[in-house]
Amino acid sequence: MNITKIGIVGAGVIGAGIAETAARQGLGVILVETTKVQLEKAVETIRRGLKKAIGRKEVAEKDEDLIIGRVQLALDIQALTKIDFVIEAVTEDERTKTDLFSKLHTVCPAPAIFASATSSLSITKLAKASKRAPQVIGMHFMNPVPVMKLVEIVRGVQTAPETIQAAKSVAERMGKETVLAHDFPGFMVNRVIAPMINEAIYSLYEGVGSAQDIDRALKLGANHPMGPLQLADLLGLDAVLNSLEMLHRQFGNPKFSPCPLLVKYVEAGFLGRKTGKGFYEY
Ligand SMILES: NC(=O)c1ccc[n+]([C@@H]2O[C@H](COP(=O)([O-])OP(=O)(O)OC[C@H]3O[C@@H](n4cnc5c(N)ncnc54)[C@H](O)[C@@H]3O)[C@@H](O)[C@H]2O)c1
Repeated sequence: MNITKIGIVGAGVIGAGIAETAARQGLGVILVETTKVQLEKAVETIRRGLKKAIGRKEVAEKDEDLIIGRVQLALDIQALTKIDFVIEAVTEDERTKTDLFSKLHTVCPAPAIFASATSSLSITKLAKASKRAPQVIGMHFMNPVPVMKLVEIVRGVQTAPETIQAAKSVAERMGKETVLAHDFPGFMVNRVIAPMINEAIYSLYEGVGSAQDIDRALKLGANHPMGPLQLADLLGLDAVLNSLEMLHRQFGNPKFSPCPLLVKYVEAGFLGRKTGKGFYEY
């Protein structure tokens, strides 16, 4: 399968990021949203991303319009009738995604592959709803997509080897590196990061050390580029709490139980950088 154009459904934070990344690498994109306003916002986001990339000398200024021109906008998935590789990056809600997959099944060519950008839902369940389970896979992009190198490829129980190969080659075509995960809650990245952050919060809660010292300890002692509490502030404390609650619910293992201090901070609206206060002030 030689993919030169992809469909992306959902043009929020991740969908716009995937569109920018794909277009920068020369792939054609059809970006589908529910409203014109959201599509316009996505184009602005892509333009802002490109300007930053131009500033970093990763993109030539003369290529800006060419790259934007590779992103075709649409308000209906009917625009995807000839597309062989579709990535859904719609709202993280199982019903929204299963509805979309069953509709895409009736619109896209029979061999088309559907990838989901979900960070927490079961790929196996989404695949079943699509009615073409062997052709469904997870592509867990990291935020911000144009900057982060990794795409976690997630194989559902019925995902075919050819689908894994196609997803890997699309990710590589976008300049990304991949790892292959089986479909278990949190895949690899969130499953490891969420309890690490939780343990750092417990260390603060139990008075083992200050926030600054916990972060310094991991940066200098474990070579992490950023301390776990700084990372929590960057990701958003609400997002960290959601991840832990999902892992706790799905594994039923108390090791994922969120630290009471994290719960209190979220209740107080201390969500990290986005609210100006988390474990640090901004
Ligand atoms: N934000 C992150 O840090 C992050 C990281 C990795 C993965 N993800 C995953 O990426 C996906 C998207 O997350 P996001 O943060 O970009 O969300 P978002 O809320 O920013 O964007 C979702 C977009 O989907 C659109 N949408 C909803 N239903 C639609 C439909 N039927 N057709 C077309 N568009 C539709 C919404 O209008 C919205 O613009 C989720 O599955 C999420 O778990 C997010």
